[in-house]
Amino acid sequence: MENKERKNVFVPPAEIQRQGKYISLVSTVLASRYGDSPKAYVHTYGCQGNVSDSERIKGQLREMGYGFTDTPDDADLVLFNTCAVREHAEDRVFGNVGALKPIKEKRKNMIIVLCGCMMQQSHVAERIKKSYPYVNLVFGTFAIHKLPEMLYTVLSRGKRVFEITEEEGNIAEGLPTERDRGAKAWLPIMYGCNNFCSYCIVPYVRGRERSRMPEDIIREAKELIAQGAKDITLLGQNVNSYGKYPDCGMNFAGLLREINALEGDFIIRFMTSHPKDCTYELLDAMADCEKVARHLHLPVQSGNNRVLKEMNRRYTREQYLDLIRYAKEKMPDLSITSDIIVGFPGETYEELCDTISLIREVEYTSLFTFIYSRRKGTKAAEMEDIVPYAEKSKWFRELCTAQEEIAGKRTASMVGKVYKVLVEPSENEGYLTGRTGGNISIEFKGTPDLIGKFADIEVTEAKTWILYGKIK
Ligand code: 5AD
Ligand code: SF4
Repeated sequence: MENKERKNVFVPPAEIQRQGKYISLVSTVLASRYGDSPKAYVHTYGCQGNVSDSERIKGQLREMGYGFTDTPDDADLVLFNTCAVREHAEDRVFGNVGALKPIKEKRKNMIIVLCGCMMQQSHVAERIKKSYPYVNLVFGTFAIHKLPEMLYTVLSRGKRVFEITEEEGNIAEGLPTERDRGAKAWLPIMYGCNNFCSYCIVPYVRGRERSRMPEDIIREAKELIAQGAKDITLLGQNVNSYGKYPDCGMNFAGLLREINALEGDFIIRFMTSHPKDCTYELLDAMADCEKVARHLHLPVQSGNNRVLKEMNRRYTREQYLDLIRYAKEKMPDLSITSDIIVGFPGETYEELCDTISLIREVEYTSLFTFIYSRRKGTKAAEMEDIVPYAEKSKWFRELCTAQEEIAGKRTASMVGKVYKVLVEPSENEGYLTGRTGGNISIEFKGTPDLIGKFADIEVTEAKTWILYGKIK
């Protein structure tokens, strides 16, 4: 049984090797077509899952012979890794693809590639096929490991390729990775989502939930630490249900403990957690693991039970608040953040007020707040949605104002305390920056030799969303 499950979930190593042959073939074509240093421009939209996928896409491009540029103007290959979670993100992609047309007219040999969640929707792929004839290659979220073969077909036969079929087995281990976050690293532990929250397109474009094997994750974690990673974020749409399919013999709490036990000085973060799968066991593991950041991103979406039911979230306000109570009891310094949707179909102003009262009760550090966006193919897209957008925008502002007040109080209470942060470059000249375990930025003066190291910073001043401090 176990073998059968593994077969269904993992790309066979022989297939990865077969792609290796295309890597050499593409390299040869590139050398004759562009000389020795073809350049790729890769732009990523959306969540960290996409950013992590792009690291594997860039890793493959690098192996095929591409270097990277930060503008499409001088690129031989332009790749957009797209997001479908809200309409706004999709509109931006269509706009940016349109803007490539005049560039391609000047640079006829340029290859344009679109991939990611948005492309996994057949109506989008059709639109690209018909209205954007200068796009060479479109592939969905299941085909990342086939990039060498697809690109070879485009380059050698001049054919347009569309590859958006959903495949059962698509965890591809052993792909090269191009990381550019310094001492910070993403580590995917699972893919897909089974939850079908009624507003969300993700389960349709990323397929069913599937976990990487613990040994593969641990191996990659060790590699990252050896390469100097000091801040590792474990990624998945719903990390709390890690290990169920295929049966990994380990749940997320167990995985956290294993990674925490690895040698080295590093911080472990994780996202995203679904409240329905967040257990006391996991919160206990968090509390026990000294390397796990004191930050819990636990999206609540709404504070009203009727809306939560319509959203198919499968927990109540009371259950959510109980988890928060337990988490705070175990970790008094815990920083909690959340995602909230304003204006879900049928939501009333009174129901929104329940969300505002919940955020006051939880006292979140920060929120990602979104106005509901209708996603074709989801259950909520069929629901009656009568509240005008302008009214939803008012509600949105009211929620943000409440959160500002809460966040301001929280950051003010941090003045005088000392936090260990991983030092990063700051956009402000003469300054460096870092994030507390709770994920709040601190700006401080210091020299660039500290970048990539840990430092203790005493907070001297607080603004709503940012702290200022000095090296202790
Ligand atoms: N409209 C608005 N926000 C959405 N999200 C997901 N789908 C939608 C949608 N259709 C938000 C949720 C989720 C976050 C990643 O994006 O809050 O947690
Ligand atoms: Fe979307 Fe819900 Fe899955 Fe998150 S848990 S990706 S909101 S369906």
